[in-house]
Amino acid sequence: MKQAKPPGTSKSWQDLGAMHRSILSQEGSWDNFRRTIASRYFTDPDYSEEDIRFAYDFLKARGVRINETDFAEGNPVRVEVDGKIITQDLLTSSSELYSMESVIDLKEVKTVVEIGGGYGRMALLILQRYPHIKYTIVDVSPAVEVSEKFLTGKFNAEFLSPEELDFKEEADLFYSSSVMSELGFRIVNHYFRLINQKGRFFYLKDWKKGHHLNDLPAITGFGLRVANKISKLIFRRPWTAAFDAYRIREDNYPQFGWKELLHQDCENITAYSPSHKKTREDKFFEIVYRIK
Ligand SMILES: C[S@@+](CC[C@H](N)C(=O)[O-])C[C@H]1O[C@@H](n2cnc3c(N)ncnc32)[C@H](O)[C@@H]1O
Repeated sequence: MKQAKPPGTSKSWQDLGAMHRSILSQEGSWDNFRRTIASRYFTDPDYSEEDIRFAYDFLKARGVRINETDFAEGNPVRVEVDGKIITQDLLTSSSELYSMESVIDLKEVKTVVEIGGGYGRMALLILQRYPHIKYTIVDVSPAVEVSEKFLTGKFNAEFLSPEELDFKEEADLFYSSSVMSELGFRIVNHYFRLINQKGRFFYLKDWKKGHHLNDLPAITGFGLRVANKISKLIFRRPWTAAFDAYRIREDNYPQFGWKELLHQDCENITAYSPSHKKTREDKFFEIVYRIK
């Protein structure tokens, strides 16, 4: 079926994209990209080697399989265990994959489409553990070029713009982590409709309460931001409720009646340095849906 044109990306990702392009244009930026632009994907810049060791032991004790390696390219904060490079992102992906594996037999999955792949942290894990899988990353520029540069020569993957996803056939598994709440309702609706048509399973992970206000009309945005500043001055905290109508939260994603095979709060140990003082808004949820 012919799709409506994808509605581009959100204001916040237009701004971040411009910032990333500027960083990438500087000489030598690739050598350090896992400490610069990757910190806008999932990497927490405060996550130390000690944090990695702590989270590694924690996840291992939980039964999470961590046998694959990350890469030193881009200079991530890392430790070595049995000759493997372990990073915060590898642990995050291992933990997400563990949840997927608890309800989906990945050996039977032939195609994975990731929406908003960043530099490709999940692709590098899935393609080591399940080399038979055809992996497609869908992202906007410059992330789509970053993931292509990072993964090429290591793994075979396909890299598409959001527009090109319209022409892609069905996929066994759609996967999206920390993307949807940053896009605004129109784009999220577009992706959910596509996933409904083309997907068999869908893994969704995101903030329980999104931080981005991408659909906010400029004039309303101005008024709310002023109210927020006043609230911070008087009550020493933002008037967050004012923004709630413009946030994507765990409970207001489009509904298609898909069956939830798993739905839980995430273990945040890999999302932030364990010393981070978390609030409820800092938390993530994860859901695995069976679509058909
Ligand atoms: C917070 S990052 C998460 C990246 C990756 N999922 C991870 O966890 O490492 C959000 C990602 O969404 C991507 N993105 C922004 N607009 C998009 C759009 N319209 N369609 C698909 N991806 C988009 C960004 O480029 C970025 O890679």
